[in-house]
Amino acid sequence: VETTLTLSDAARSTAGVLLVTIVAVEYGGTYLLRVVRGGVERTPFQRSFERAGHAHAGVLVILALVCQLFVEAVDLDGLGETVARSGVAVAAILMPAGFFLSAAGKGRTRANRSVVLIWTGGASLAAGVLTLGVALLTSG
Ligand code: HEM
Repeated sequence: VETTLTLSDAARSTAGVLLVTIVAVEYGGTYLLRVVRGGVERTPFQRSFERAGHAHAGVLVILALVCQLFVEAVDLDGLGETVARSGVAVAAILMPAGFFLSAAGKGRTRANRSVVLIWTGGASLAAGVLTLGVALLTSG
């Protein structure tokens, strides 16, 4: 099949890894199904954070995939390219990890110190979308 879309090796491999990680999001979803059905005992706080962890994982992986295409269209190199390409993908790891880890344990009703991962991931997300967004706005 002929295609007009040419991808750099970095875009191809990052997108491939991101697509494969969706299976992990699905696995998290099956865990949530058990939680919702009462098969796993969780406090309302834990349900809320675990639901947010799953949701952020899915949504951020999709956003990171979209970013791979747009990075191909801008003239970035060095640190700028790295942040534009990987900022959202790093957030897709850190934010869900923060939601799940900070709610881990039995009977927890408030976040533990792993909550810092959520904020770190948020910073990575902001850096990624700002770098790519500004690059798109100032290119072409
Ligand atoms: C086998 C696959 C999956 C299963 C069984 C599953 C299961 C669930 C369950 C049970 C909830 C609700 C949790 C609750 O209300 O407490 C949920 C929420 C959610 N899921 Fe999944 N999920 C799956 C795959 C995915 C994927 C692939 C994505 C995104 C790419 C995704 C995105 C979301 C989002 C955004 C929410 C949040 C909805 C909300 O809180 O309003 N899920 N999922």
